[in-house]
Amino acid sequence: MVESGLDGNSSVRILGIAGSLRRDSHNRALLRAAAELAPESVTVEVYEGLETVPVFNEDLETDPPQGVTSLRRALARADGLLIVTPEYNQSVPGVVKNMIDWLSREEVLSGLPVAVIGASTGPWGTRIAQTLLRQMLLSVQAAVMSDPTLFVPHVEALLDDDGRLVDEQTSQRLERVVSSFADWIRLVAPSPPVSPPSERSERWGESSEGGKGAPVSPPSERSERWGESGEAGRGALVFAASKNPLRPGEAGSGVWGESGGAGRGASPGTSQSR
Ligand SMILES: Cc1cc2nc3c(=O)[nH]c(=O)nc-3n(C[C@H](O)[C@H](O)[C@H](O)COP(=O)(O)O)c2cc1C
Repeated sequence: MVESGLDGNSSVRILGIAGSLRRDSHNRALLRAAAELAPESVTVEVYEGLETVPVFNEDLETDPPQGVTSLRRALARADGLLIVTPEYNQSVPGVVKNMIDWLSREEVLSGLPVAVIGASTGPWGTRIAQTLLRQMLLSVQAAVMSDPTLFVPHVEALLDDDGRLVDEQTSQRLERVVSSFADWIRLVAPSPPVSPPSERSERWGESSEGGKGAPVSPPSERSERWGESGEAGRGALVFAASKNPLRPGEAGSGVWGESGGAGRGASPGTSQSR
């Protein structure tokens, strides 16, 4: 059996990215609130460089732009990625899709724990965008947390003039998402690699020949990530699925019960886990 690499008390570093470049973005405000509400053992870094990631172009891959390398470096330092996304035209904003296209090419997201939440001024709170984004993330083998979810409709009514989250119910749900995500990261975090570096290099070679996501060259960030998420990581994921604390009746059933109940309880504000 492959064991998880982090125990229940380990500190966790989350990189948070808002999928909006707008100066007064509601989603960035939500992300900032997540950083403030995070438990003591959890750090949420608010990433501010998404606007420097250019439109994806395969021709740029041999010498990736600074915005891309900075993003990869920030991710390599993190244990998990929290994406806080708006919804544009019932889909994922272009900047978020663009980011994933860049990251997928170096397999940075493969095995990485990822959580998705979002806020909109509409009544569905990014439900469609989140569904599509989760599907996209699964296609690049990210370890997407499925529950609890957080869809924040009519977000403009939940923030004050300075963009601070002032709605108590949403704050509680956000706090629950962050702490559950930290638990998810601890659960799926891979053990140290089981194979020596030379074998990992061979594996990289194999993956390069694979065609689909064939990276141009194995960058240093990817090597680090590979070290963290090799076979051990994938094994840990299977292990995690069989011991998911977010399932009813298991360790985290309180989380499940509350979030499921909150969603079904048809609260008019934030909706969650329906
Ligand atoms: C191009 C565009 C498309 C939008 N499409 C949707 C949509 O499909 N569903 C929705 O709930 N809100 C939609 N909105 C409204 C956004 O929810 C709202 O602008 C939100 O505040 C954007 O997030 P931000 O504040 O983080 O930038 C759209 C906004 C724009 C600019």
